[in-house]
Amino acid sequence: MKLYLFAFLASLSSVGAAGSGSTFFPARPPAIPLAVKAPYLSTWQDAGSAGGNGGYLAGQWPTFWSNSITGWAGLIRVDGKAFNWMGGTPNTNLVDQVAFEYTSTKSIFTMHVDGKVEMNVTFLSPITPNDFKRLSIVSSYVHLDVGSLDGKSHDVQVYADISAEWVSGDQNAVAEWEYGETDNGVAYHKVHRQTQLLFSEVGEKAEWGNWYWATHGGAQVTYQSGRDVDVRGQFMSKGKLANSKDKNFRAISKDWPVFGFAINFGSVNSSPASALFTIGLYQTQAIQYDGPDGVGPVPSLWTSYFHDGLDAVDFFYHDYATANSLSSELDLNIDQDSRAAAGDDYLTLTSLAARQAFGSIQLCGTIEEPYVFTKEISSSGNVNTVDVIFPTHPIFLYLNPTLLKLLLRPIFELQESGKYPNKYAMHDVGSRYPNATGYPQGNDEKMPLEECGNMVIMALAYAQKSKDTEYLQTHYNKLMQWTGYLVDDALYPANQISTDDFAGSLANQTNLALKGMIGIEAMAAISNLTGHHADGANHSRIAHDYIAKWQTLGINHNAKPPHSTLSYDSDNSHGLLYNLYADRELGLNLVPDSVYDMQSAFYPTVRNKYGVPLDTRHDHTKSDWEAFAAAIASKSTRDMFFHTLAVWINETPTNRGMTDLYDTKTGGYPGIYFIARPVVGGFFALLLLQ
Ligand SMILES: *[C@@H]1O[C@H](CO)[C@@H](O)[C@H](O)[C@H]1NC(C)=O
Ligand SMILES: *[C@@H]1O[C@H](CO)[C@@H](O)[C@H](O)[C@H]1NC(C)=O
Ligand SMILES: *[C@@H]1O[C@H](CO)[C@@H](O)[C@H](O)[C@H]1NC(C)=O
Ligand SMILES: *[C@@H]1O[C@H](CO)[C@@H](O)[C@H](O)[C@H]1NC(C)=O
Ligand SMILES: *[C@@H]1O[C@H](CO)[C@@H](O)[C@H](O)[C@H]1NC(C)=O
Repeated sequence: MKLYLFAFLASLSSVGAAGSGSTFFPARPPAIPLAVKAPYLSTWQDAGSAGGNGGYLAGQWPTFWSNSITGWAGLIRVDGKAFNWMGGTPNTNLVDQVAFEYTSTKSIFTMHVDGKVEMNVTFLSPITPNDFKRLSIVSSYVHLDVGSLDGKSHDVQVYADISAEWVSGDQNAVAEWEYGETDNGVAYHKVHRQTQLLFSEVGEKAEWGNWYWATHGGAQVTYQSGRDVDVRGQFMSKGKLANSKDKNFRAISKDWPVFGFAINFGSVNSSPASALFTIGLYQTQAIQYDGPDGVGPVPSLWTSYFHDGLDAVDFFYHDYATANSLSSELDLNIDQDSRAAAGDDYLTLTSLAARQAFGSIQLCGTIEEPYVFTKEISSSGNVNTVDVIFPTHPIFLYLNPTLLKLLLRPIFELQESGKYPNKYAMHDVGSRYPNATGYPQGNDEKMPLEECGNMVIMALAYAQKSKDTEYLQTHYNKLMQWTGYLVDDALYPANQISTDDFAGSLANQTNLALKGMIGIEAMAAISNLTGHHADGANHSRIAHDYIAKWQTLGINHNAKPPHSTLSYDSDNSHGLLYNLYADRELGLNLVPDSVYDMQSAFYPTVRNKYGVPLDTRHDHTKSDWEAFAAAIASKSTRDMFFHTLAVWINETPTNRGMTDLYDTKTGGYPGIYFIARPVVGGFFALLLLQ
């Protein structure tokens, strides 16, 4: 009911009504991913009630994750009457959205226009984990199918444009553009900042690179660049564009230049007519990195496969059938695996998380020397943050372990080359994406126990999954160094922050101590796998000694029911013991089953409407850590976690790219806005254990 109300309110600003309401399957997400492929291609339709319109594509502008508008307009004319199917073009009739569905790679809208035609709009951001040529291209598809609804033939034209808002976070920046067609028939608008600012951001958007908005050229296709009201007005009144180019390069907000295509379907009957558009960002240089040869640019990986951006645009456009079938295959695998593991609620989570997790990464380097870089979207902008990769890592290990190796690569490289002075593991490789220039002074955010544990655990997890023992040998010395820190600090952790830094610092954190102890045992396994038997025996002995003590220090055995505490000295405190997951993931069996059973029995006693609080300090929780806790819980407790999360997704008032931090009582933002962060890749934790 609520959903319909917001749709109705949104429609008041436009002529016509939003219609009788849309269904949402498997859920109505907080924001609908439209083109979500990389840190700088991240456009969503806000849906939740705190500012979103309830999940309708028409009547509201799509936005970049950071909330600035990425002007993207869709119009359709049926028998001479124009309707709006995407975006906030004022004074338009809105189509009736009747259904919405998402899969891991697609957002699909079904619309009825004037009761005469049906239009399906499919946004596809392909995920091809094992195909780096395709994965490296920062582009998404929009596919339209239009067919008769009432059995009669109708005269139909469709229109879509982008505005220059895509190319910069600064609306006063001057945009430049050109129109052309490739030899293979791809018609394109190329749009970019007139003055490119390499490796710079404004409002989180990239200030360099070329945007291409493309479709297939031909007799039925017309184009136009120009002022928004002129170009859209031209289509609404004439049903076609003027094939004209606006040569007046100007500020993004000066008479709002837009870049449109119109396609004349002519008479449409029951066999659908279709159109395909692509949107993408092509940056030849992606990252600034302090690599083996010193600070310098790292190319986008697509430059190894294509000689320039336009070549890649042409390939991507003609690759739709393959990209679509590879994506459908992935959708089906995630669908089947998720439902087999824990049912429909679980699929609601995993399939919404996939594009968000992959939408934080960018494939870089060359075919011989590839890297994966990731942006800590919304919380800091740090590059390859270790405690963001850690919660995200299940999706990468599940889909292709090499992606995890390539994410860890710059982290190992910077520290093994002596460019980081601290003996504990670094937090990230650069304070602001895309500058991965490290911390020669060692002044990164200090999260020593957390990151040492994460690095050792993830190194072993990758090696186990890929059967790559050589990897452990290569990094042995660094991993031993970090384990030395764990041995010093894990039993009685000093006052420090954990990954949940928003919660503040604390001494003797029970869950953090557990991560350190599991890390020590993981190192023992690494030693044993690489023939360092004395180290293996020593560290296993230490880990077992610590875990025995931890069971006294970190558990309140007298509580009813008993549970782990937030910190040693606070018996009545509690928290999600999500670090226990690594013990199961790595098959270490360091922690007795009784601890798993105890936590399974405890969590349901402290659940709120939308989940179990992260700890006793606040009502808020982290969905990624709930998914870690769920993955190792009893079936009923696991189902409780997944069910409350699925209900939260449907009901949350939050309205931006899915937050991982939310209030368990209201479902809203807890005063901190975490948006579109990759850590929801942790929803795949259970799939790794299958
Ligand atoms: C839209 O999608 C639905 C569901 O897949 C399908 O039944 C229908 O035929 C499609 N309509 C058009 C016009 O392609
Ligand atoms: C990256 O560093 C360059 C200088 O090398 C600077 O101009 C740019 O603003 C930095 N980018 C970000 C996002 O801070
Ligand atoms: C066991 O490991 C600890 C910490 O890594 C180290 O200080 C100690 O010397 C080791 N003991 C042996 C016998 O190797
Ligand atoms: C950590 O816990 C131990 C055991 O209760 C206690 O002796 C120590 O003082 C605590 N450390 C801090 C920094 O509070
Ligand atoms: C490593 O091997 C030693 C025996 O050499 C054994 O005691 C220990 O449990 C092993 N640890 C792991 C984690 O495999």
